Amino acid sequence: MIRKCLFPVAGYGTRFLPATKSMPKEMLPIVNKPLVQYGVEEAVAAGLENVTFVTGRGKRAIADHFDISYELEHQISGTSKEQYLVGIRNLINNVNFSYTRQNNMLGLGHAILTGEPLIGDEAFGVVLADDLCIAEDDGVMGQMVKLYNQFRCSIVAIEEVPTDEVHKYGVIAGEKMMDDLYKVTDMVEKPEAKDAPSNLAIIGRYILTPDIFDKIRNTPEGRNGEVQITDAILQQAKEGRVLAYKFKGRRFDCGSVDGFVEATNYCYENIYKAGN
Ligand code: G1P
Repeated sequence: MIRKCLFPVAGYGTRFLPATKSMPKEMLPIVNKPLVQYGVEEAVAAGLENVTFVTGRGKRAIADHFDISYELEHQISGTSKEQYLVGIRNLINNVNFSYTRQNNMLGLGHAILTGEPLIGDEAFGVVLADDLCIAEDDGVMGQMVKLYNQFRCSIVAIEEVPTDEVHKYGVIAGEKMMDDLYKVTDMVEKPEAKDAPSNLAIIGRYILTPDIFDKIRNTPEGRNGEVQITDAILQQAKEGRVLAYKFKGRRFDCGSVDGFVEATNYCYENIYKAGN
């Protein structure tokens, strides 16, 4: 059983400056809900009720968001506004949150390794909250947990992207096992189009087996001088133990202004307006 989900949230969000100068990028709202809450809801819906944040300086608003605000509760108690807190109260009551801090920004691999003491020796999910995923039935993490239960190995979520965008992603090469599922044979972090092994890009959802921590420790600095999770997962893939899964649903790159606006419009039309 997968019980834990790790959220690396220490990044700066420079593309959204000045909005992210004193506010975590993960707290930017898509309509009326912070990005990170969508990710936590997806993890919890998949049964991952232990949520670990790898945070950094300036990210305290995230911990405050997933905690009771007594003043606010007092203020709106008994009014019609209480309905706005139902979702977040539900998370606060049912999820076990833990936090650790990444002191230096040494890459996504390093961020995940920083979470090791809170994850321990078990397989776990990773959600990059910038990638907002909306699916009809099971969320993307839920779809991946089902696959994990069947195959018991690390799994990365992928989607096809245009060739001129492969340089923004980790890109895989794989042997097709069945519809939507590949056995990974190679992975490259942010390749130039001409060096990309395919146009199958990794998006921000992973299930990782705990041997990943030793692999990260053995991973030298890669692209941008950072410890890349892609390089560590490649070591697992070389042992024949990584799947790539073309998920069902839509994904918005909310780390970019265009993706953020697209997600906002989509959620306004399909979730917010539909529910009001
Ligand atoms: C990270 C990973 C990359 C992956 C991407 C998905 O990159 O390093 O392999 O494709 O997330 O969003 P980042 O976007 O943090 O630069």
